[in-house]
Amino acid sequence: MFDEENYAPLYGAYDGDKLVGMAQLYVSQTMLADFKKDFGLPSSTKIAELGGNLVLPEYRGLGITTNLQKIELEIAKQRGFDYLISMAHPDNIGSCKTLEKVGLKFVGGQKVANGFLRNLYMLKLK
Ligand SMILES: CC(C)(COP(=O)(O)OP(=O)(O)OC[C@H]1O[C@@H](n2cnc3c(N)ncnc32)[C@H](O)[C@@H]1OP(=O)(O)O)[C@@H](O)C(=O)NCCC(=O)NCCS
Repeated sequence: MFDEENYAPLYGAYDGDKLVGMAQLYVSQTMLADFKKDFGLPSSTKIAELGGNLVLPEYRGLGITTNLQKIELEIAKQRGFDYLISMAHPDNIGSCKTLEKVGLKFVGGQKVANGFLRNLYMLKLK
């Protein structure tokens, strides 16, 4: 078990009672330690990561992920993080596009700490 608020709070988008989309904000500095190295950030930097995005196929392309990530951006600012980061496979056009729409900047593509090839996106929050 873990404390969700201090690990990876999960946000949902609903159509009535039906959960149609989800997004997570990873905030555990322990979990994110290796990614700080990938992004060239000092270990003392406080970062949050956008991830865990999934929208039901029939609800895609409606702006659900973009909107959830905009909410997460505001939460990350309020919680005092220095940077917001995210990673997406270069072929995942939908993921890459949502990150750019939310304002994250592409900073390179490489194999990251978990061994996967990823496009790296980052936004300085303060
Ligand atoms: C990636 C995903 C989360 C995007 O969610 P979404 O709610 O459909 O995204 P949005 O509606 O906010 O899309 C934002 C922009 O990206 C575009 N886009 C979304 N998916 C796209 C795709 N597959 N190909 C091209 N463009 C795409 C949208 O058209 C929109 O652009 P626009 O504003 O210019 O019209 C969704 O497609 C999904 O669940 N995919 C499967 C799981 C996955 O890959 N998750 C991410 C990796 S963990």
